[in-house]
Amino acid sequence: MAKAGSGGVFLHSCAVSLLALQLLPAGEGKADFKVLGPDGPILATLGEDALLPCRLSLNFSAEDMELRWYRSRPSPAVYLHRRGAQVSREQMAEYRGRTTFLGDHLARGKAVLRIHNITVYDNGTYHCLFRDGEPHSETTLALQVAGLGLEPRIHVTEDLDKGIRAECTSAGWYPEPHVEWRDFRGHAVPAVTRFSASATTGLLAVLSRVAVPDRSMGGLTCSISSPLLHERKVAESHLPMSPSLDPATASPKLSLSEDQKSVRRLLFDQDLPPSASRFDQDPCVLAQEQFFTGQYYWEVEVGDRKAWTLGVCLGSVGREGRVPKAPQHGLWAVEFYKERLQALSYPRTQLRPPQHLCRVGVFLDCDRGKISFHNAADGSLVYAFSGLSFSGPLQPFLCLWTHDPSPLTFCPVVRETQEDAGAPEVSAPP
Ligand SMILES: *[C@@H]1O[C@H](CO)[C@@H](O)[C@H](O)[C@H]1NC(C)=O
Ligand SMILES: *[C@@H]1O[C@H](CO)[C@@H](O)[C@H](O)[C@H]1NC(C)=O
Ligand SMILES: *[C@@H]1O[C@H](CO)[C@@H](O)[C@H](O)[C@H]1NC(C)=O
Repeated sequence: MAKAGSGGVFLHSCAVSLLALQLLPAGEGKADFKVLGPDGPILATLGEDALLPCRLSLNFSAEDMELRWYRSRPSPAVYLHRRGAQVSREQMAEYRGRTTFLGDHLARGKAVLRIHNITVYDNGTYHCLFRDGEPHSETTLALQVAGLGLEPRIHVTEDLDKGIRAECTSAGWYPEPHVEWRDFRGHAVPAVTRFSASATTGLLAVLSRVAVPDRSMGGLTCSISSPLLHERKVAESHLPMSPSLDPATASPKLSLSEDQKSVRRLLFDQDLPPSASRFDQDPCVLAQEQFFTGQYYWEVEVGDRKAWTLGVCLGSVGREGRVPKAPQHGLWAVEFYKERLQALSYPRTQLRPPQHLCRVGVFLDCDRGKISFHNAADGSLVYAFSGLSFSGPLQPFLCLWTHDPSPLTFCPVVRETQEDAGAPEVSAPP
């Protein structure tokens, strides 16, 4: 009996607490509801969709409520849902055709507004208002729009007054990105950076400038990162230099231009006094520059010349008789001869010549022991020697085989402005 009695009491108290639970929402009253949104800002990427969720603080149905998402003023709204349907005439023009109402969980007081194809103008504050007759409640949502810009580009200029300056540009960012320059040693380089907003898209274009104090810093990287997406875009640029040829080393078979940037092959040898610094047999010439530390980049215009060798060598390379064209003799080069391009490695490496190899870029990194050759038209790698150590300073050199009249030329530092054609829109700085 006692057993049955206690069982009865237990059942009874259970029934009471169940009843209390069921009464609780009704007890607080529908009038006391609150609307809640996400805890933090909502991150949305340009061109993608954003979800703006709102819910009642208590688990009861919002099916009969009016649900309104709005920005600064309640009407017109971003989206208005009343009596189970959208009220289109109360929608802001900017959001027409760009919204979807997700009401699967309305019975549990939850709804989500999806905004499609997010733009910069969608960034900012939204309010979410649930109305049940007179009682209503609302909450505020923050929508944070983020856009990753285009690959940055670096443009280098040099003039006599201002020295070398580099400019990095990239469009399509939102919000303001973080811009950082570094030299090839990884040291930060101070820059002046401006942003300008596109009148049509609101996206920001970046224009950042640095002054380059010292060419031996070799190269620069410009890195632009989004503060919200934790992604970055990086451009890298070699700082071009333009070596000058050393007439004292030029073979009698060659003639240098007055500015010592260009060399031609002569039909007949010049009558020159013999000198130990001159290449007496092979038609070669050294540049005046000597490199022992740092990074350097220069370009040689080879044009349609049918045979050439170019690269760097130790100043001590033999100049009497045939030039020893191999790394073990302190010479690192690429050679074009009889329509074939090869690296003067040991053994030699046949290369597939890029189409229209008119200009060869040479990058010398003394500190890392690397010499690489590039197609200057697009920067693509032609060949690289690496893991080198140098026993003395290195000098650029050129050789002109065959009596082909086309010269070889060290290109000037400042490039043609052709590249600027596709530059992003950037308002002219003062
Ligand atoms: C909310 O209420 C519905 C029915 O009214 C119920 O099916 C659901 O499980 C409840 N959800 C929660 C989280 O209490
Ligand atoms: C997204 O918005 C942009 C800018 O308003 C527009 O150019 C583009 O056509 C839109 N894309 C789609 C898929 O609607
Ligand atoms: C974008 O909206 C967020 C959230 O409201 C706000 O904090 C931020 O300042 C806005 N960004 C811009 C650039 O106006």
